Amino acid sequence: LPIPPLPEDLPKIELTENARQVLIRRYVRRNDDGTPAESVDEMFWRVAYNIAKVEVSFGNPDVMTRAREFYILLTSKKFFPNSPTFTGAGTPLGQLAACFVLPIVDDMGRDSMGIFQTLRDAALIQQTGGGNGFSFSRLRPKGTVVKSSSGQATGPVGFLRVYDHAFGEIAQGGTRRGANMGVLRVDHPDIEEFITCKTDENAITNFNISVGITDAFMRAVKEDAEWELRFPDVTDPRYRTFRGTLEQAEQEGIPIRTYKKVRARDLFNKIVKQAHHNGEPGVLFLDAANRSNPVPHLYQLEATNPCGEQYLGPYENCCLGSVNLAQHLGDNGTVDWEGLRQSVVLSTIFLDDVVEANAYVPAVPQLREAAMRARRIGLGIMGLADLMYHCGIRYGSPEGQEFAAQVMEFIRYHAMQTSIELAQQRGAFPAIHGSIYDPENLKWAPPQSIVPYTHDYGRPPIDWDIITEGIRKHGIRNAAQTTIAPTGTIATVAGCEGYGCEPVFALAYIRHVNDNGKDLQLIYASPAFEKAIARAGIEAEKRQEILEQIMREGTCQHIKDLPEAIRNVFVVSADITAEEHVRMQAALQAFVDNSLSKTINFPEGATEEDVATAYMLAWELGCKGITVYVTGSREKVVLETLKT
Ligand code: CDP
Repeated sequence: LPIPPLPEDLPKIELTENARQVLIRRYVRRNDDGTPAESVDEMFWRVAYNIAKVEVSFGNPDVMTRAREFYILLTSKKFFPNSPTFTGAGTPLGQLAACFVLPIVDDMGRDSMGIFQTLRDAALIQQTGGGNGFSFSRLRPKGTVVKSSSGQATGPVGFLRVYDHAFGEIAQGGTRRGANMGVLRVDHPDIEEFITCKTDENAITNFNISVGITDAFMRAVKEDAEWELRFPDVTDPRYRTFRGTLEQAEQEGIPIRTYKKVRARDLFNKIVKQAHHNGEPGVLFLDAANRSNPVPHLYQLEATNPCGEQYLGPYENCCLGSVNLAQHLGDNGTVDWEGLRQSVVLSTIFLDDVVEANAYVPAVPQLREAAMRARRIGLGIMGLADLMYHCGIRYGSPEGQEFAAQVMEFIRYHAMQTSIELAQQRGAFPAIHGSIYDPENLKWAPPQSIVPYTHDYGRPPIDWDIITEGIRKHGIRNAAQTTIAPTGTIATVAGCEGYGCEPVFALAYIRHVNDNGKDLQLIYASPAFEKAIARAGIEAEKRQEILEQIMREGTCQHIKDLPEAIRNVFVVSADITAEEHVRMQAALQAFVDNSLSKTINFPEGATEEDVATAYMLAWELGCKGITVYVTGSREKVVLETLKT
C-alpha cells in the first residue's frame, strides 16, 4: 500500500550487526523473488506511517507530524511494538497483534463456536503470526456420554492433541510460528491426565500448558484438605444449551457431578513434580487475575496468551509494546525520568492507534468486535536489567525490588494518564459501563506497592488521585494498559542485555555464527560489564582473564579480585535465588494490570520442595501465575532459546 517516502531529514537507526541481521531476516518486507523490498529505515517508516495514519479517523489533520514522532520513537529504540506490528503494518494481511484467546465450548459443531470452528479460527490467526491461548476447561471429561453419537467423549487432553497435530501441520505466515497455550482448571476431572500430558518432551510440542489454579485449591493445599474434581452433569437437559463456566453452571442450578476426590496436596505435588522435571505445566492463578479483571460484566478470565503474560476474554487480542529502559539511562547512574515519561505517553498513543489500524482477521469478525469493545493495550518494558546495571542496583535484592516497583509504577501512572487524555479526545472504551472503570460506579482503586519505598531515585512525584479524578471525569480509553512481554525478538533487535523484566542471562558467552558454512565463534561480553571493569581501573590483560573466567563459570560471583561493588551489581539469572525472582515478579505485578512474563530460575539440584515453596510464595504475594525452570532439566529447549 503506497505511503509517502521516508523524509530525508529523519535520522537513521543505529543497530548492532546481530540486531540488523535479525531485523532484516524477520521484519523487512520481501519481493516475490525474496529480495528485500525496503531498507531497514524504510521498514520503520512503513510502521510509523501506517499506524499514524489512522488518526485521521480521530480528527488529527496532521498525520505526517505524528508519523515523524513515531518514527523517531522507534528508531531511537526507545519503544518497540510486538513483532506482528513490524511484519504486518501496511501489508495486505495487516494483522498486528501477538496474542489472542479463543473460546472452546463443549460442542462438536452444532454451535458456531464449536470445537472445530475454534480450531479453524485459530489456524487463520496463526497464519498472521498471532499466538493463541485456549481454556479447555469447558470440555466434558473423557469418557462421559455423548448423547448424539451414543459414544464417549474425547476429553480436553484428547482435543488438545487434535489441536496440536493440526497446528503442527500449519506453516506460519511470515517468519514466525505462533505459539499456543492450553489451560485446564485444577478442578476439572481430567486434570491429572493434563498435568502429565507433556512428560515426554516430544509430545504436544506446539503448546505450552498451564493449570488454572483457584484460591480455594491453594487453601486446600495449605490445610491439607480433600479436593473435588467436578463437572456439570452433561445428561441434564439444561446442559445441552449451556455454554458457561463451572461457577455459572452452579449459579444456574445445573447439577454438578463430583467425579473424584483427591488430596489437594497430592495434586499440587503432581504439578510441582512435573514442573520441576521440565518446566511444565506452568501455573495460572485465575482468581488473582479475575480480581483485577477490568470487565467482569463481560466475562471471567479463563486463559492467557502463549507466554502467560496476557489474560484475555473470548476472541480478545492484545497488541503488546515495550519501552526500552536501556535507552532511558540518566547521567551518573540515574534514570532519565522525563525521557521515560515522554516515551510512555507516545507509546500509549501508538498502541491505541494500533487497535484501530489492526486488520485483525476479517474471516473471524468476532476478533475486531472484541477488540473494539475493550480496546486493550499492553505496554511493558525491556532492558530493566540494563537500567539496573547502570544505576548500580542488584536485581533481586530488596532495593532491586523497590527500584523495579518505582519504575513500573511510574510507567503505569503515565500510561493511565495518557489513556484518560485519549478518552477525552477520542472517547472511552465502549464497554466502560459496568466495568471497574465505570465513571458512575468506579470500582478501580490505585495500585499500591507491596514493597516499602525507602530510596529516592529522583523520580518526579506521582499523584494517583489525579488518575481517579480523571477517570471519574473522562473515563479511560483502554480497559487494560500494561503487560510485560518476554520481548524475545524485539529486545534482540533493540540490543538489550536483559529481556523484558528479566535479569541478564549471561555476562559473557561464545556465540556461534554461520559464516558461509563455516562456524565462527564470537565472544560476546556484556558491554555494561566491560565498561564497569574498565572504569574500575582494571588493566586490559586482567580484564580479558576475567571475561574468560566468566565464560567458563557463567557468572562473575567467584572472581575474588573484582571490586565488591561490581560483583554485587552484575548478577545474572543464576545468581539470583528463586525467592528473589518471585519477589521481583510480585513487586512488578503490583503495577501491571495484566500479567507479566517471567521465569523463576532454580539452580541445578533444586528440590521439588523448593519449587512448591516458590509457588506458594507467588500465590501469597499476588502473582497471576508462575513459570519455573530448574537449570539443566530441559536441555533441548534451552539450546533452542539460545539459538534464536
Ligand atoms: O519480541 P516479540 O514481539 O517478537 O515477542 P515476545 O515478546 O517474545 O512474545 C510476545 C507474545 O507473542 C507471546 O506471549 C506470544 O503470545 C506471542 N508469540 C507467539 O505466539 N509465537 C512466538 N513464536 C513468539 C511469541
